[in-house]
Amino acid sequence: MPTLAVYPGSFDPLTNGHVDIIRRGARLFDRIIVAVAVNADKSPLFSMPERVDIARDVFRDLTNVEVDTFDGLLIEYVSQRKAQVIVRGLRAVSDFEFEFQMALMNQRLDGRIETVFMMPAEQYTYISSRLIKEVFSLGGRVHGLVPDTVEQRLREKVSGSRA
Ligand code: PNS
Repeated sequence: MPTLAVYPGSFDPLTNGHVDIIRRGARLFDRIIVAVAVNADKSPLFSMPERVDIARDVFRDLTNVEVDTFDGLLIEYVSQRKAQVIVRGLRAVSDFEFEFQMALMNQRLDGRIETVFMMPAEQYTYISSRLIKEVFSLGGRVHGLVPDTVEQRLREKVSGSRA
């Protein structure tokens, strides 16, 4: 049976760390769904359509990557999509506690679905969406840390808010 994986997240915005995990996942699983969480943050910088648009643009070359949205419980979405695996990225030990809790809670909710942790390439281990937004908003360079389309859209947001 083909293995279908779901990679859930807020992706506000998508970083090159996320991209690295998704590209690795696309090599490992038959199909991987990038599932953008609708309600993860009540006031995201990028709207849901923007986040979906960015991910579709970045992965347009990968035929086994699908971009979708989900609302409510992740495990229900995963089961509804008939996926067997949840993929989460682990960057450092500091990620572990929260990820461990989530994985065990999801395991309790549906023991048939496995959480698989994947490590990004070393150069992405310190990147987070939160840090990208903070550094960019304070005038720091984020080139090489996010896809070009994200960098461009961040610039548009800043110039839009100044207009
Ligand atoms: O990119 P993030 O913010 O680390 O993603 C977290 C996310 C969206 C995967 C997590 O908050 C989630 O699964 N939300 C959906 C609601 C849910 O199922 N909560 C219980 C998790 S055990």
